[in-house]
Amino acid sequence: MPERARVSSAHISPSAHYTGYVWYRHQLADAAFKTGFGRFVHGLLSPITWGARVGFGLDIELFLLHRHLQIDAQLTAAIEQRGVCQVVEIACGLSPRGRRFTARYPQLRYVEADLPVMAARKRLLLHAQGWLGSQHQVRSVDILAEEGSRSLSALFAELDRSKPLVVITEGLVNYFELPLIESFWTRLAEKLRVFPQATYLTELYPDLHEHPRYRQLRWGVDLIGRLTRGSYPLHYRDDQAIAQGFQRCGFTDVTVFDPSLTSQALGLAPSRNAGLVWVIEARV
Ligand SMILES: C[S@@+](CC[C@H](N)C(=O)[O-])C[C@H]1O[C@@H](n2cnc3c(N)ncnc32)[C@H](O)[C@@H]1O
Repeated sequence: MPERARVSSAHISPSAHYTGYVWYRHQLADAAFKTGFGRFVHGLLSPITWGARVGFGLDIELFLLHRHLQIDAQLTAAIEQRGVCQVVEIACGLSPRGRRFTARYPQLRYVEADLPVMAARKRLLLHAQGWLGSQHQVRSVDILAEEGSRSLSALFAELDRSKPLVVITEGLVNYFELPLIESFWTRLAEKLRVFPQATYLTELYPDLHEHPRYRQLRWGVDLIGRLTRGSYPLHYRDDQAIAQGFQRCGFTDVTVFDPSLTSQALGLAPSRNAGLVWVIEARV
């Protein structure tokens, strides 16, 4: 593990309350998923998000919706066109996706996973609503753990190796420096290789120097870093670098989506600017 790596990334967890509140505000989540802290942070940040939208045309909630709905679209395609019947969502936070997809597809097994404290919170939330069961479960995982009860090996041990699988991370990978997240992707690709068909979906904020709003984006990500008491590095300069990076980690087919180009197909208003958040579908 690189020297600069933190042993714990628990400082990231509070950000899940903010995104959880955004999913709720946009009718993607039941009220059970919203928290007082999420609403408080959303209110606190609203002058900044308003300023970014009006002053620079950077709509932060639209970026979040782009990534969330594009991942939903790729997951729907995997289930309906490729027969995927098991999903693992790592760093699930307060995302409602597991609930929405298990309600829509009764044949699906959905395992949500996060650091122990957030996993316990999510388990309680789902249990209180009567949504937890053999089809929908929550486990503890730490993507930095290379072995032990919170490792990927432990998480994957209970999956059916004879069936296709989708693994999702959302709102996670840009909190880590590239060597650290690439070491996670390498371990993940290795675990996925035993399944007959396996797909990894993640969003990624690339380092798009040529983007007309690059300076404002840098300011925004520095702010996210400060608010979460960490950093928010941008990864890879373009789609070719993304494909090469994922291939180096052991993925074979890599597709990059810019959700801003298909905004309307995702049910959103057309985008005024080229996208700053992309979605990667990587298969082994
Ligand atoms: C920004 S939130 C995203 C939550 C959710 N995926 C969403 O989009 O609303 C980041 C999540 O990553 C989780 N996380 C942070 N470090 C982690 C790690 N080492 N292993 C697994 N999850 C982690 C946090 O607990 C938190 O729930």
